[in-house]
Amino acid sequence: MTVRAALAEGSGALEGSGSGSPFLDAALLLGHALGVDRDRVLASMPDELDASSVEAFRAFVARRSSGEPVAYIVGYKEFYGRRYTVDPRVLVPRPDTELLVEVALSLLPPVSRTGGGPVRTVRCHDAFTGSGCVGVTIAAERPDVEVSLSDASPAALEAARANALGLLGRPLDARLGDVLSAAVGPFDLIVANPPYVTRELTDRLLSTGDGEPRMALDGGELGLDIYPALAAQAFDLLADGGSLAVEIGEEQGPAVAAVLESAGFGGVRVHADLAGSDRVVSGGRHAVR
Ligand SMILES: C[S@@+](CC[C@H](N)C(=O)[O-])C[C@H]1O[C@@H](n2cnc3c(N)ncnc32)[C@H](O)[C@@H]1O
Repeated sequence: MTVRAALAEGSGALEGSGSGSPFLDAALLLGHALGVDRDRVLASMPDELDASSVEAFRAFVARRSSGEPVAYIVGYKEFYGRRYTVDPRVLVPRPDTELLVEVALSLLPPVSRTGGGPVRTVRCHDAFTGSGCVGVTIAAERPDVEVSLSDASPAALEAARANALGLLGRPLDARLGDVLSAAVGPFDLIVANPPYVTRELTDRLLSTGDGEPRMALDGGELGLDIYPALAAQAFDLLADGGSLAVEIGEEQGPAVAAVLESAGFGGVRVHADLAGSDRVVSGGRHAVR
């Protein structure tokens, strides 16, 4: 069987299975079976495959057809230009979350010097860290910033620690705790992608064999359960002038903006992604509450 024929067979099998991109999924899975990247697969359409590669590829396609994310099958997901190791301990990083990183980077103060004195350390905390993709990206993009991570899942925290070490070549302070209970302020920025999927949608997603952790998705009946505690705890942990940036579901902008305002945040903004969907809410802690 040629690469071309295998891709046709695999993408055909994935057509009706709920995959949004059957051909690309098939190319990634064939690349995984062959130990090469997707571009190499696409550049070798006429090549013949050996029987064991075809067998491995068909097994991966069967897993994908049962709803398992491609990222769990291949063991990684690209996020902000870096490759994160992922498995069912953690949510698969979403491209949408890159906007949270963009907003976070724009809110971080520059490295500041007080007079001719010492450099002041800028501090950032990534709560609900999961794979670590948000906090590790910030640490990679701004090596001068002291980044810490937290999550309520010990298994997710292990994954985040491994990604930090693998991608940064150094550990990040990663702590176990509910919401922000493990974080030690004051911070210039707190960033969070909490579970915000409605209970009903979470149930539906998990019934398709998605396999992501329920606690990474389920935000309660309206998806908004975690925001009041997150906003209140963040306000107390931020330095004066510090900021909070949180990811939201596209219908949640007004509700989450109201939560931040009632926790005392000023300058609250809802940020839309390139498709025009609300994706992030940010606010600042000013000197007077
Ligand atoms: C939506 S995932 C985000 C993961 C990652 N930051 C990302 O953007 O891909 C939410 C994470 O919050 C964690 N979590 C759920 N409830 C929590 C809670 N009450 N306190 C702290 N972490 C929690 C889950 O374990 C999961 O890793």
